[in-house]
Amino acid sequence: MAGGGWALFLFLAVSVCCAAAQEPNTDAFFLSKFFSKLGRPAPPPSSNTSEGPCSWSGVFCDGEGRVVSFSAAGMGLAGPIPEDTVGKLAHLERLDLSGNRLTALPDDLWELGAALTELNLSGNAIAGALTNNVGNFARLRSLDVSGNAFAGVLPPALGSLAGLRVLNASHNKFQGQIPGAVVSGCESLVAMDLSYNALDGDLPDLSLLRSLSYLNVSGNRLGGSVAGAFQEQLMVIDLSNNGFSGLNFSTGYAGSSLTYLDLSGNEFQGEFTVVAGRFRNLKHVNLANNRRLSNGSLLVSMGGISGLEYVNLSSTGLRGQIPAEFSSRLVGLKVLDLSRNNISGVIPDLSSLQLQVLDLSVNNLTGEIPVTLVKKLPSMERFNFSYNNLTVCASELSPEAFAAAFARSRNDCPIAVNPDKIKKHRGKRKEMKLALAIVLSLFFAALGLLCLAVACRRRRKRCDTQPVVKQVSFKEESASVSGPFAFQTDSTTWVADVKVATSVPVVIFEKPLLSFTFADLLAATSNFDRGTLLAEGRFGPVYRGFLPGGFQVAVKVLVHGSVMEDQDAARELERLGRIKHPNLVPLAGYCLAGDQRIAIYEYMENGNLHNLLHDLPLGVQTTEDWSTDTWEDNNGGVATENITPEGTATWIFRHKIALGAARALAFLHHGCIPQIVHRDVKPSSIYFDSTMEPRLSDFGLSMVAGTNTDNDLLHHSPGYAPPEFSNSENVMATAKSDVYSFGVVLFELVTGKKPLGDEYPDRKEESLVNWARAMVKANLGSSIIDPKIRDTGLERQMEEALQVAYLCTAELPSKRPAMQQIVGLLKDIEPKVAEQD
Ligand SMILES: *[C@@H]1O[C@H](CO)[C@@H](O)[C@H](O)[C@H]1NC(C)=O
Ligand SMILES: *[C@@H]1O[C@H](CO)[C@@H](O)[C@H](O)[C@H]1NC(C)=O
Ligand SMILES: *[C@@H]1O[C@H](CO)[C@@H](O)[C@H](O)[C@H]1NC(C)=O
Ligand SMILES: *[C@@H]1O[C@H](CO)[C@@H](O)[C@H](O)[C@H]1NC(C)=O
Ligand SMILES: *[C@@H]1O[C@H](CO)[C@@H](O)[C@H](O)[C@H]1NC(C)=O
Ligand SMILES: *[C@@H]1O[C@H](CO)[C@@H](O)[C@H](O)[C@H]1NC(C)=O
Ligand SMILES: *[C@@H]1O[C@H](CO)[C@@H](O)[C@H](O)[C@H]1NC(C)=O
Ligand SMILES: *[C@@H]1O[C@H](CO)[C@@H](O)[C@H](O)[C@H]1NC(C)=O
Ligand SMILES: *[C@@H]1O[C@H](CO)[C@@H](O)[C@H](O)[C@H]1NC(C)=O
Ligand SMILES: *[C@@H]1O[C@H](CO)[C@@H](O)[C@H](O)[C@H]1NC(C)=O
Ligand SMILES: *[C@@H]1O[C@H](CO)[C@@H](O)[C@H](O)[C@H]1NC(C)=O
Repeated sequence: MAGGGWALFLFLAVSVCCAAAQEPNTDAFFLSKFFSKLGRPAPPPSSNTSEGPCSWSGVFCDGEGRVVSFSAAGMGLAGPIPEDTVGKLAHLERLDLSGNRLTALPDDLWELGAALTELNLSGNAIAGALTNNVGNFARLRSLDVSGNAFAGVLPPALGSLAGLRVLNASHNKFQGQIPGAVVSGCESLVAMDLSYNALDGDLPDLSLLRSLSYLNVSGNRLGGSVAGAFQEQLMVIDLSNNGFSGLNFSTGYAGSSLTYLDLSGNEFQGEFTVVAGRFRNLKHVNLANNRRLSNGSLLVSMGGISGLEYVNLSSTGLRGQIPAEFSSRLVGLKVLDLSRNNISGVIPDLSSLQLQVLDLSVNNLTGEIPVTLVKKLPSMERFNFSYNNLTVCASELSPEAFAAAFARSRNDCPIAVNPDKIKKHRGKRKEMKLALAIVLSLFFAALGLLCLAVACRRRRKRCDTQPVVKQVSFKEESASVSGPFAFQTDSTTWVADVKVATSVPVVIFEKPLLSFTFADLLAATSNFDRGTLLAEGRFGPVYRGFLPGGFQVAVKVLVHGSVMEDQDAARELERLGRIKHPNLVPLAGYCLAGDQRIAIYEYMENGNLHNLLHDLPLGVQTTEDWSTDTWEDNNGGVATENITPEGTATWIFRHKIALGAARALAFLHHGCIPQIVHRDVKPSSIYFDSTMEPRLSDFGLSMVAGTNTDNDLLHHSPGYAPPEFSNSENVMATAKSDVYSFGVVLFELVTGKKPLGDEYPDRKEESLVNWARAMVKANLGSSIIDPKIRDTGLERQMEEALQVAYLCTAELPSKRPAMQQIVGLLKDIEPKVAEQD
């Protein structure tokens, strides 16, 4: 202590002595006195060009040694600014005393006079009023008194500072209104920051401040309308945390310069409107905490401002859904806060955005969080989905992160995405390397003539004796293989490269405890041997197999990739697995193996309607093509219990098939949420179970197997596609396109004709639909009834069925009846059958 006191004394003595050494009433004298009075040493020289204060850092002199700029920022100066010091620097242009602990201004500060252009007193503890004397500084361009304890009103004399460009009075205790004189007089003002004071009253009209681009009056007690602030020249408007209530824009205001808008924490009512073109350059918008702001189209209209980076609509009383346009239009969005609203519906796929912060907490959102979005979460700064009604598969998030950001959400992963279960059950995890090529040669080589432009579909068959096939060895391919397993497909082969077949789970919904693996599937199908091939369908080959426990299944390999994430595909397959109806072939399970999705169905032992109608055996077949087929090699170990047409070639049975298929479709269209459009209704999708009950298969698969490149899968099979599909490329399949396909099947059931390329007597029609419709229209329906069934029932009923088919195949989708109505119509035709339920 004593030593310290001594040093201070010595230092003071030296300073006083030095100050005293200055000639009185010179700038050097005043500056020396400034430091000595504040108990500080003068700053070290910054250069040796001159002697005395002009060499001090922070001090600049003019040619005559007069101080024109003085900065003592952040030097820890404390107490009142002494009189007869800086106030006496007659030629001072810039004074910066910011970031000290100064408490009061000297009376002679106002004598500085006309030369002063910049005054920075920011970040001190100066109390008291800012007087009208500030008007003395006629040439002032920048006044920063922010971060002090100034009280009282803002001096109206500020309005006389016509050259003032920056006014910063933020973080003080200024009260009263914003003086009208300021907004009329300070015509050069570029930035005005009055934030965090206690200003009240209305916001004046700022239209006279033609250069103003930055306005911040955040954190005051201002109220009324904000119309005055919305002037075309403004780029930044921060009116947050006040009591504004009137959200009015003057007519013609387009806000085309506005990039930053903060209206949060006010009492705005009504709707914030983004009319066409308005705010088109907005990047940052915060309307948070205006509970009564919007009940309408705010979110939708936001989607129209493509440059947005920050959107904060927390606590704005929002309703409705998050528009899907967000993800396509707001590609630059980094922060999205929609928390504490009443937003419902599902979360759209926002993964294409550059989101760093996403807060959707405390809303009314439902459904699953898109997997693509969940995958991006670990790279985000902050996210919150709490207090909604959401489901997420959070397998990659820590339990802590889940608890914090997903409160009240359900953590629910599709079974196949969680291989832990399998690992527990399967002790031996021997590496089983296995390259398996299942090769299907081009069958139509022998039938080359059939390859006509449209009708030509590739048909794959395997050739046992002559490997026409390129043998794809594991080593060759391993470079391009990622992960433990992958499939390769090209036009003629698909290759399973599975290193650890026992680690790939096969989910069987009804038998969850059996934990089958891909190895079981391999065993069940003799490594997908051609002997077990049932069909080569549109989605890929179908094999027959016996899973351990004698569970007979049809294994459908969905060869085509899909844009769907594995997890979404698994979820979708699990959803399909829950869909049960007596006229649907139940999906029994699934397996995700590399890029391949494998759907496992209960085996339908009595074949399908295509076989039945056209007297085909049950062996290998193509479901893609309807032109002449040869079936010479259909007995390679495949079950061929032939369903002889006797007993099945009756009107009553055809009707039962029609009604069963109609019921299945009505259930998919009207009984499932979301609705399932089949997209591929045709006889080879209608199977018969052991009791000959018709069952529709393959529903919902186009989502899991479809791609956007392969439009084939999104469209119906040839002959079954409604006319709207031939007109345009981008038609979406709807329930009404299923109705059309069903109509074709119904014609087929009654006439026994194939939809394309068959013989249609009396007409030169190239398709069943055109022919049958023309005949029905001409009242010649009875002449086209399949001779095989004609005598097995009432002709009138068959004609009525043709009329239903006629309705279903109407040119205009809107003219076609709904599937439910068709069920009713078909029931009416044959009451005996209908009574059975
Ligand atoms: C400052 O003085 C040093 C010696 O003390 C000299 O080397 C240097 O050149 C001087 N700088 C200027 C700008 O005069
Ligand atoms: C005043 O000084 C502070 C601290 O040095 C600085 O951040 C601020 O930009 C200055 N104000 C003006 C208007 O230059
Ligand atoms: C005004 O001063 C505050 C506190 O010093 C600062 O944060 C703010 O950026 C300044 N405003 C402007 C427009 O420079
Ligand atoms: C307005 O002022 C407040 C308080 O100083 C600050 O937090 C806010 O960032 C400012 N707004 C803008 C747009 O600079
Ligand atoms: C808002 O504008 C309308 C006319 O557009 C005007 O009648 C009304 O007074 C304005 N409200 C406020 C609070 O300024
Ligand atoms: C919004 O609320 C106002 C009353 O506050 C009501 O008149 C208006 O119909 C509502 N608009 C919508 C879209 O709900
Ligand atoms: C949204 O604005 C409110 C109020 O200004 C604020 O508390 C919240 O942190 C903001 N959210 C984000 C993500 O910036
Ligand atoms: C959401 O809307 C419902 C129904 O209109 C209402 O009862 C509920 O209070 C609203 N919740 C919030 C947080 O605004
Ligand atoms: C949530 O949304 C559902 C409909 O989507 C509605 O019935 C329910 O009232 C909403 N709940 C709240 C709290 O708003
Ligand atoms: C949550 O959503 C499910 C459907 O997704 C619904 O059945 C359930 O009632 C919802 N729960 C609440 C509390 O809204
Ligand atoms: C998410 O929001 C809830 C509700 O506001 C809050 O309790 C929770 O702390 C937030 N979690 C995170 C991680 O921000």
